[in-house]
Amino acid sequence: MTDSGSPAAAPAAAPPAARRISAVTSGKGGVGKTFLSANLAAALARAGRRVLVLDADLGLANLDVVLNLFPKLTLHDVFTGKVRLHEAILPAPGGFSVLLAGSGMVEYSRMTPEVRAQLQGVIDEVAPRYDHVLLDTGAGISDVVLYTVSLAGQVLVTATPEPTSLTDAYATIKVLAATQGRRRIHLVVNQVRRPGEGRQVRAQLQQVVDRYVNPTLDAPVRIELLGEVPADPAVRDAVLRRQLLLDTLPGTAASLALVALAARMLE
Ligand SMILES: Nc1ncnc2c1ncn2[C@@H]1O[C@H](COP(=O)(O)OP(=O)(O)O)[C@@H](O)[C@H]1O
Ligand SMILES: [Mg+2]
Repeated sequence: MTDSGSPAAAPAAAPPAARRISAVTSGKGGVGKTFLSANLAAALARAGRRVLVLDADLGLANLDVVLNLFPKLTLHDVFTGKVRLHEAILPAPGGFSVLLAGSGMVEYSRMTPEVRAQLQGVIDEVAPRYDHVLLDTGAGISDVVLYTVSLAGQVLVTATPEPTSLTDAYATIKVLAATQGRRRIHLVVNQVRRPGEGRQVRAQLQQVVDRYVNPTLDAPVRIELLGEVPADPAVRDAVLRRQLLLDTLPGTAASLALVALAARMLE
């Protein structure tokens, strides 16, 4: 059960465990990764799954803010040996578990070998205990972000239809293909303004990848649309209230889209 020794000493994750780990990442910041991670976790938990969300935005965490949690124990305390891993795993309002991180911690702005080993150890230890582990990463292609994404079997690239977000999503996909051998990318298009815009965005991204990235690779990168979530004022309301959209405004368009997204993840 919660028999944790030193996290770094945990055995390497077996491939089936890795498949249950999904990194929610993006090229550009502020596109909705944390909002999606929390509400997707709630939707998966409602479907009866055991879910853990790990705040992998180690230095600039804000999963706690979205969930209205005031963490006394975070991953930092686990890394520094202050507490054992199971003590830092907290219940979240949506029926899932969270491992929170701290904010304003400059020591996590670069990935050191120690932090690498610690994070890998934590993931290896938690993965077998959950049906889904979601890693809410930071944005961009820094070594911290790329390393946390490398720990996941599945990558969910989040983008909005804005040109700046698409350019950065393309860059992220290109780097993940080149440095991690990723050939399958799941795309979530957030803040769409009309139904079907997600499909259009996927096609656009695939076209650029086919033209500039795939010719350089042994096997082509396929972008699959996991789902689209409409731009919905209810999202901002829920974030301001520090509540899950699924709990506080369940019938809204964004809420229904998230439930559909979770269902597709379970297929
Ligand atoms: N579908 C949406 N509709 C409207 N606003 C959204 C939507 N998704 C996200 N937002 C807004 O964007 C903000 C930033 O989202 P967040 O999840 O913190 O982004 P990230 O984790 O990618 O930096 C949210 O607080 C919310 O106000
Ligand atoms: Mg975030």
